[in-house]
Formats: sequence, structure tokens, C-alpha cells
Amino acid sequence: MKIAVVGTGYVGLVTGTCLAETGNNVICVDINEAKVKKMQNGEVPIYEPGLDLLFHRNIEQGRLHFTTNLAEAIEEAQIIFMALPTPPGGDGAADLSYILGAAKDISKIIKEYKVIVNKSTVPVGTADKVRAVFAENTDIEVDVVSNPEFLREGVAVEDFMKPDRVVLGTKSERATKLMTDLYGPYVRQGNPILFMDERSSELTKYAANSFLATKITFMNEVANLCELVGADVDAVRKGIGSDERIGKRFLFPGIGYGGSCFPKDVQALVMAADENTYDFQILKSVMEVNERQKTILVDKVLKYYKNDIQGKHFALWGLAFKPETDDVREAPALYIIDALVKNGATVTVFDPEGMANVKGVIGDKVEYADNQYDALENADALLIATEWSVFRNPDFDKMDATLKNKVIFDGRNLYSLEKMIDLGYYYNSIGRKL
Ligand code: UGA
Repeated sequence: MKIAVVGTGYVGLVTGTCLAETGNNVICVDINEAKVKKMQNGEVPIYEPGLDLLFHRNIEQGRLHFTTNLAEAIEEAQIIFMALPTPPGGDGAADLSYILGAAKDISKIIKEYKVIVNKSTVPVGTADKVRAVFAENTDIEVDVVSNPEFLREGVAVEDFMKPDRVVLGTKSERATKLMTDLYGPYVRQGNPILFMDERSSELTKYAANSFLATKITFMNEVANLCELVGADVDAVRKGIGSDERIGKRFLFPGIGYGGSCFPKDVQALVMAADENTYDFQILKSVMEVNERQKTILVDKVLKYYKNDIQGKHFALWGLAFKPETDDVREAPALYIIDALVKNGATVTVFDPEGMANVKGVIGDKVEYADNQYDALENADALLIATEWSVFRNPDFDKMDATLKNKVIFDGRNLYSLEKMIDLGYYYNSIGRKL
């Protein structure tokens, strides 16, 4: 099939590349000339495991193209994906100007029937708005389909190639047939393609992310309680997770959820509910608890140093909001750094991929180490904010020789309590005994 993808951000690029991988001819279009030039020269603009291989293979085989020319991109495309940003506007609601703007541009160029697929996370009712833009500007028939994406950063390629489900909001038979053909190769194992109305599809995306954020937050509260009653959250996690109704995944307590999706989507759903005079209480609590959880590690540090960390120096491992990404948007590490520095401490940080992005946000507020061990030099204690694999089995001899004190505050529960006792560490983690 011939496909156009408008917007080559994270979602657009993964979508375009993975659609080319099953034999489709894909043209990705973006207004950012420098970025398009880079991609035309074979440079992948984001860090995402597994994407490089598919990106290069499909470019070499002539199935994946990049352009800044919208007309060229959509001329022959049967299906046009819109993967454009929907940042929170001034009032916190998703700003639809990119999507509606692109819809207008497309509507003025098309000469024949097209399926317009919205991949961005958008408020309920957006498909209707997009349809209205087309109706205003052209007599050509289009079908507007809502197709939320459920990719996780770090495993996005796998998520796209083998999705748990594909959700498609459309009532059009013609679009249903085309989309079934397009997604067929990705659900060969039998996972469902779920067709529904556009509004339900749009809401599914927000409900899924908000539910997962709630699950994590629930576990964070259980962890906080575990510390007070002398229970071990790891045991409780396994104890409840083996009940299939609850499930083992997304039950890991930590220092709050971050990233570009959960915080934004939970807030957007609360606002959508408010606008419809519905008080979505549980999500309001989720937001509040998550705010608190982001600096829980600093609360532990302050308690340990009796509220005085003036002049103390800390090492911080992990900046990205989760492993296998360089994304630091809403990363708990940023809140931790802020709180430590405000309390008069200095910080040296290390992250395998997130250093450049953090530098872009906070500049020289912290020192940047070349590797995880250099970060420990002269540090009074180590704090861990992201569960990168390289932190899981470190060289403790090297750590002992570098850290000033054997003190670790671990926001991701990387080490067993027994091991840390054996090694002689003061080890304060989340929801476990000291
Ligand atoms: C999330 C969803 O998982 C995807 O399905 C969705 O497509 C995506 O948002 C999106 O809307 O674009 P992502 O933000 O990449 O994906 O990251 P997750 O793996 O979901 O992690 C989110 C946050 O939850 C991270 O800060 C992570 O550390 C935290 N988390 C996750 C926990 O604290 N505990 C867990 O058990 C799992």
C-alpha cells in the first residue's frame, strides 16, 4: 500500500518505519528541513532500540522516503497518517492547532478519496473536528479514522510490530477494509483489531494511560505503607500480581511516573471530565500522589542527614524517565536534582543516554561524569533514579573505593537487601526494610 506519514516525531518515525517493514511504500513528511535532510542522509534522529536496523533496511530497499513537500507525500498515498504534536495549551487542554492545520493543508491538495488516520493522542471529538475541516475545504470524499498508538519508548519497534491490540475508530466500511489489510501482518498471532466508533477510540487511549498511571501510583502508596508497617513491597507485589485479574506488569513501585505521556494524559482526562462536569476524583489523587512521590528519595535523604544537606555532595545515577531512552521529559531525576540543590547540596550525575538532554534543560546546575564510577567521586551518598541495566550489577569494589560513605538511596529497588547488608551499606530503597 502507499502510505504518507505527516510528522516525523517519535510516533511518526516509528510508525512510518514499521509500516515500510511489511512492504508498504511510505513517505514521511515534516516541516523541519534540517531533520528531513538528516533522515535522507540515513541518520535516525531519536534513540530507540531496534529502529536503526529497520530504518536503514527500508531506506536502502526504497520503501521509506522523507520529504518536506506535503503535496508530493500525499499525492499517491491511499492512507495518510497524522502523527503531530498535541502539546498542552495555555489552559492545559491539548492544543489541536498542528492537527487541524495539517488537515486544512491536506484538504486543499487532495484530488481523490483518502483515509486520514489520526495517530496523535487527542481529546474526544477530534475526529469530528478533522472531518469538519475537510468538509469546509473540499468536496472529495475522505474517511477520518482514530488510531491511537500504545507504543512504549524503549520497546516501540516491538510494540508496533506485535501489538497487544490495534484500536481503530471508524464506522466506514471502506476505511475498515483498508485498515484491516494494512494491520493484518502485525496481528498474525491472533491479537485483535478492535473497530469502534471514533469517540470511544479516542477515549481508549486516555483511559489506558490513566489506568496504568493509577496502577503504578497505587503500588507507590502500598510501598510507602510497607515502610511504615515493616512489610516488603516486593513480596506484596508478587503476592498480588500473581492474581491474573491484577497482573504482574506495571506494579513496580518507584519515584513516580514521568515521561511525555502519563503526566500529560492523566491531566487531560481530568480536564475533559471537568469540562463535562464530571469530577474524576481517582485521577486527581493519582496526580497529587505522583507529585509527592517524585521527591520521596530526597525526603529520605533529608531525614538521614537530619534536614541538613548544606555542602553535601551527591552522586545521581539515572536521568532518563525510564531506561532505554534519552527522554528526560517529566523525569523524576530533574525534581530530585532541583530539591537537592535547593537544600544547598551539589550533585554529579551520570546517565547512559540522557546526559545531553538534561544539559539542555538545566545546564551547569550539576556536574556531568563520564561514567557511573566517576560520578561517585567525593560523594557523600549515591542516589539512583533510573533502572538502567548497567546499574544492576555494578562493581561494588570500585564503588567502595570511590564513594566517601557506603550510603545508597535507591528509587528503583535494584539490589537485594541481603546483598547490601553483606556489603555493609546503609541502603534505603522504596517500600522495603532499611
Ligand atoms: C506509555 C504507555 O506505556 C504506552 O502504552 C503509551 O503508548 C505511551 O505512554 C504513550 O502514550 O505514548 P512510556 O511513556 O513510553 O509509555 O513509558 P512506560 O514504560 O509506560 O513508563 C511510564 C512511567 O511509568 C515511567 O516513568 C516508568 O518509570 C513508570 N513505571 C512503569 C513505574 O514506575 N512502575 C512500573 O511498574 C512501570
